[in-house]
Amino acid sequence: MSQEHKEIVVVDNIDRLADYTIDQWTKLTYYAIESKGYFSVALSGGKTPITLYRKLAERKNLPWDKTHVFIVDERFVPYESEENNYHMINTNLLCHVAIPAGNIHFISTTENTPEDSAIRYEQDLRAYAKKSKSQYPPLDMAILGIGNDGHTASLFPGSPGLDETKHLAVAVNTANSTDTANERITITYPVINNAANIFFLAAGSEKANVIKKITENKKCNLPAARVRPEQGKLFFVLDREASSLLSKTV
Ligand code: 6PG
Repeated sequence: MSQEHKEIVVVDNIDRLADYTIDQWTKLTYYAIESKGYFSVALSGGKTPITLYRKLAERKNLPWDKTHVFIVDERFVPYESEENNYHMINTNLLCHVAIPAGNIHFISTTENTPEDSAIRYEQDLRAYAKKSKSQYPPLDMAILGIGNDGHTASLFPGSPGLDETKHLAVAVNTANSTDTANERITITYPVINNAANIFFLAAGSEKANVIKKITENKKCNLPAARVRPEQGKLFFVLDREASSLLSKTV
């Protein structure tokens, strides 16, 4: 694995964090559409990206008809649940813009088991990859969060999902985490690390410790530190508080 490009961007607050990410999204969208005709992005749940999604919902002029959205991970709860990531992303962003339903690659939770959901999502990811004649879904952008324990997506410390090299999506049990919905489905490192641009978004002082470990300790083996793009670029977009323990900021 190579890690050619790693950039830490510090902004004043969560609003600026959203604005910075929208600027990058816009550039990447037009670049991708010009070069191959469409733009694909994977979106995370969590609280940090909510401002981003709400602000993006106002960008009606972005080429939504040529945008494909994937969901990074999902809790195995019904769509109606407050904990359902697709629900959160849909109500804050997708239902406000003219994105065709067929461009939304959500993780279905109506299957009997999380494993069945993961199989179904993997089929969708593989079909998308095949259409683009690539081994992995060609994500132009992946938006990830970081938990205080160093998890990202639903890749938690100690989870067998961390060692997955073949499957594109797996079911995981997060019984050791503080989450109430233990059963989840997540994309895996092969998908994440093949994205062209990976953006970690983190805000708030409670993230300062883990951000320091992940960005400054070369031996850190926490799940978020194992995100290392094969060819792409890695960005940490942090507010002042999340960056407050870093030795040096840009
Ligand atoms: C989720 C996520 C998860 C999240 C982190 C950070 O659905 O919860 O995909 O990986 O990004 O837990 O969450 P916050 O943004 O709420 O800090």
